[in-house]
Amino acid sequence: MEFYEVIKKRKTSREWADKEVDFEAVKQIIDAGLAAPTHNHLREWEFIVLHEQAEKENCMQFAKKWAEEHGLTDPNRLFPDASVMQRMYQYAMPRQYTMLVAAPYIIVPLFKLYSLRSNYVDQLNAFSSIWCVVENMFLAATAEGLGTSMRIPVGDEGAKVCKALGVPEGWMMPCYIGIGYPREDAPEVEQLTFSADQKMHMGKW
Ligand SMILES: Cc1cc2nc3c(=O)[nH]c(=O)nc-3n(C[C@H](O)[C@H](O)[C@H](O)COP(=O)(O)O)c2cc1C
Repeated sequence: MEFYEVIKKRKTSREWADKEVDFEAVKQIIDAGLAAPTHNHLREWEFIVLHEQAEKENCMQFAKKWAEEHGLTDPNRLFPDASVMQRMYQYAMPRQYTMLVAAPYIIVPLFKLYSLRSNYVDQLNAFSSIWCVVENMFLAATAEGLGTSMRIPVGDEGAKVCKALGVPEGWMMPCYIGIGYPREDAPEVEQLTFSADQKMHMGKW
């Protein structure tokens, strides 16, 4: 796939076709992540790959509880007069558990944590780097003809997941990534889009 086509085609998927994913593609996606820029030249990143149903359920148990506690389990719940942003939430929120547990693979990327508290962006470099990794993985999955879902763990959910997955102290997950073939008849939720012409400030804001 041509590079700019990959950029354009990358979309978050939350519903999956009943089709297995080749494990070689999963490895390609992780290799693409490992080619991302690294703030300290060490590529301190690890990846937990989950494929068995029981493994995925173990990982997703806290997101499931969160969805149940927040009454976010009905995929058909509709809000009248919702804005573009609200319509996205309306579609995405009740799928926070299923878009991952039902994906053929879940990848949990991990980064070595230094600091998450700072007024200065340079002290967040480890966190910034892992998001370069995640985007590379999204683009590689798209190039492989696959879709990706992504959830950010809420509150202490990430720490609980890491414990359940045996992650050593000092490592943190930025998100969960689901990988699969998108269901062809899944709805396309409207997005706000912009062009460079609308966002550029030449010389000065
Ligand atoms: C930092 C970040 C956090 C996100 N968190 C979630 C999330 O918790 N759950 C979810 O379903 N999608 C999440 N998303 C995906 C966005 O909803 C999605 O990227 C956005 O609606 C644009 O759609 P697109 O990815 O199809 O272009 C997140 C995206 C980013 C960049």
